[in-house]
Amino acid sequence: MSPKPNTAPVFHDLAPELAQFAAEVHAGLAHCPKRIPPQFFYDAAGSALFERICELPEYYPTRCEVEILERHAGDIAARLGTETLLVEFGSGSDRKIRLLLPALAPRVYMPIDISKAHLKQAARQIARDFPNIAVHAVCADYGELRHLPHHPPGLAVTAFFPGSTIGNLEPLAARRFLHRIAGLVGPGGWLLIGVDLKKDRAILDAAYDDAAGVTAAFNSNLLRRMNRELDADFALARFRHRAFYNEHAGRIEMHLVSTCAQTVRVAGRTYAFGEGETIHTENSYKYGIEEFAQLARGAGFATREVWTDAQTMFSVHLLQVE
Ligand code: AVI
Repeated sequence: MSPKPNTAPVFHDLAPELAQFAAEVHAGLAHCPKRIPPQFFYDAAGSALFERICELPEYYPTRCEVEILERHAGDIAARLGTETLLVEFGSGSDRKIRLLLPALAPRVYMPIDISKAHLKQAARQIARDFPNIAVHAVCADYGELRHLPHHPPGLAVTAFFPGSTIGNLEPLAARRFLHRIAGLVGPGGWLLIGVDLKKDRAILDAAYDDAAGVTAAFNSNLLRRMNRELDADFALARFRHRAFYNEHAGRIEMHLVSTCAQTVRVAGRTYAFGEGETIHTENSYKYGIEEFAQLARGAGFATREVWTDAQTMFSVHLLQVE
């Protein structure tokens, strides 16, 4: 293979405007019950806090997924081949892709993430460390992405969606998103996706309400972000973090609970909170293996392989468009 002449990554900026953040916050705070979509967690501070979450003893998903990828990178590469454009959705940390790139050796690696600073830094480092792979970093809300900004002819598209981020979508939206990925990778194309599994409530509750309070800080960083970017006046001490497993719905819910009756101004509008009223900030759905395979089937994917960690806490599914 001839060496690539330039190892600097190409950067495609399709980031949503500030106006979209304001519009989503206004719509969410006017909604009953109040809610804000989780993609707004990931400003620079939120992304750094999420990286810390991934290192927490209680937050098992990262460790388990890394265990699976380490063990099976060779099996995955054997299935996928190398004449590929490898798209990673919501790349965040580059730790997992680094386990795959040496085995997969795609022609092009395209990380897509909403957090610009994080994405740029990780893309530069990957381009330096893997000079034979062309890196095209895309700053975008991948939920909104309708086409790939770069696709050299002849390269098959393979998608990688780690971390069980699919769980942050409602099941119906998850199926729609998988369907969109199926369209992007095309007939015969692949999706490698991490999916967190249903398990004992105590393990789940602890993973989203850690003893060191990092997840609480991650949740309340959303208030800090609104104060800074939307000229809001949330008093952080008047909201507390709440996370719990809603067994009936099969999901972790995260909320910011108002500890008193209060009003808050956000970008020129006022919102009233009752004592105990919450802003629902995140859902994290957990699946059974067959339950997820069925969801994927509904989006046009056949399950070719499923790997789990030694304790069956987490799963990685290799799916192919039928
Ligand atoms: C990014 N996503 C898969 C994480 C999760 O587990 O749902 C976000 C997170 N929220 C709190 N802790 C981690």
